[in-house]
Amino acid sequence: MRILLVSSEALPFAKTGGLADVATGLSKALSNAGHEVVLALPCYRRHIDELARGERIGQVEVAMKSRRVKADILETTLDESPLRVWLIDQPNYFDRGSLYVEGGLDYADNSERFLFFSRAVLEAARNQYLLPDVIHANDWQTGVIPAIVSQQLRHTADFANVGTAFTIHNMAFHGAFPAHDMALTGLPQKFFNWRQMEFYGQLNLLKTGIAFADMVTTVSPTYAREICTSQYGCGLDPVLSDCGDRLVGILNGVDPEEWNPEIDPLIPENYTLESVDVGKAACKSALQQQLGLAENPKALLFGMVSRLTDQKGFDLIAEKADAILQADVQFVFLGTGEERYENLLRDLQERYPGKVSANIGYNEQLAHQIEAAADAYLMPSRFEPCGLNQQYSHVYGTPPIVHATGGLADSVIDATDENLEERLANGFVFNKYQSDDFLEAVWRAVGMFQHHPEDWKRLQQAGMSRDWSWDQSADKYVKVYEQAISRTRSE
Ligand code: ADP
Ligand code: GLC
Repeated sequence: MRILLVSSEALPFAKTGGLADVATGLSKALSNAGHEVVLALPCYRRHIDELARGERIGQVEVAMKSRRVKADILETTLDESPLRVWLIDQPNYFDRGSLYVEGGLDYADNSERFLFFSRAVLEAARNQYLLPDVIHANDWQTGVIPAIVSQQLRHTADFANVGTAFTIHNMAFHGAFPAHDMALTGLPQKFFNWRQMEFYGQLNLLKTGIAFADMVTTVSPTYAREICTSQYGCGLDPVLSDCGDRLVGILNGVDPEEWNPEIDPLIPENYTLESVDVGKAACKSALQQQLGLAENPKALLFGMVSRLTDQKGFDLIAEKADAILQADVQFVFLGTGEERYENLLRDLQERYPGKVSANIGYNEQLAHQIEAAADAYLMPSRFEPCGLNQQYSHVYGTPPIVHATGGLADSVIDATDENLEERLANGFVFNKYQSDDFLEAVWRAVGMFQHHPEDWKRLQQAGMSRDWSWDQSADKYVKVYEQAISRTRSE
């Protein structure tokens, strides 16, 4: 199958969150399975180093209102992978300091930037740089793609049976813009209606993707159900409920070349399930030393690597950190985001020297070191479409403590007696998003860590021995692509 996967971020080129891991992990898995895959993303400033390896394969031009805007299509590859990568090079839009935001504010022309990107990728495909069987768009930045394919390109012979899949990584980000930005889509005004592209008077690019895609997916089966409810649907639940079997949940995977304690070059000691005790002890003591934590092997070290937003459960941590810190525990946090949470973490570090390490910033190596060094991982998210760090934690033998929502519910099995007996349990789960329920799960973890090391070992074994790789999920995406293509045939 020829697959064009379009994303606003992808490792190692550009990343603000899990989308970058997913775009590359899935593309690689599809390509390793023998499909012909092109991964397309904007050429941001950071790519400039990579360009030495890339080659200009052509140029496209898109009419943005009355202006004609050009972009070069640069093609590069990833080491040892047959995957092709297109970088859409338009410096006025993308040669900037960051991806979406500057000084805490979204770039004022974000709709124009990503509508251009989406349209430029389709132009490149039309110019036959790749004639795909299916186009897989991700999140609002590429939400217009299914609309253009179904309403314009499909009238041409080459695109008559090109299917579209649209993946929602987070319902909280709608890509909502003023109504007059409709003119930047190149689509007729008639689509600006409440069933398709309009939402409360604005152009809504997430809704556009959902409305026009042949198949809609999201990143876990539980989140697929949740977003059809008013609690999680962010206002678009009626549109999602209408999708019926057009909406599918597929759990994200883990890229074993990036997250694998056996070969990870970013951690001080590599280990496997057989050597997990020794390996993690070495990583833990190195990190305690590096971050100025007390070098106490017995203290349960909780790790957390996260965007600092309301989504991720920091209000529960704020409420219960003092209680938890009365026990023989330590916290290591890594994250950036909302100032109130940055201050919360700094304040904890100040009040509990040697027990709390607050690392405000973005640091790939430290993220890996934390997964390897921590004894347990905190992910009490209010909602979580999939979540990757709980899966990375399984792989690194670091049982996660999670709220039963979205992909957390689909990947963490609670340490009940029964689940432990059956060797299924791999972490700690609390059902209600309430601080007392969170605390109860934390105490269960502390109790087991201190008094029942054999049970703890079972959690690690269950997490480390399961296959979290992309292979199974990639197979599921291929089925979705086949369904998308067959829908174009029955139109
Ligand atoms: P989300 O996409 O909602 O942020 P995910 O769990 O899907 O959450 O993915 C987050 C990804 O970003 C993980 O790979 C995580 O390690 C990484 N990450 C988040 N914050 C940081 C940070 N401050 N430094 C390094 N990596 C980070
Ligand atoms: C989003 C979600 C996260 C998910 C990621 C990749 O950022 O918040 O749960 O893992 O996308 O799909």
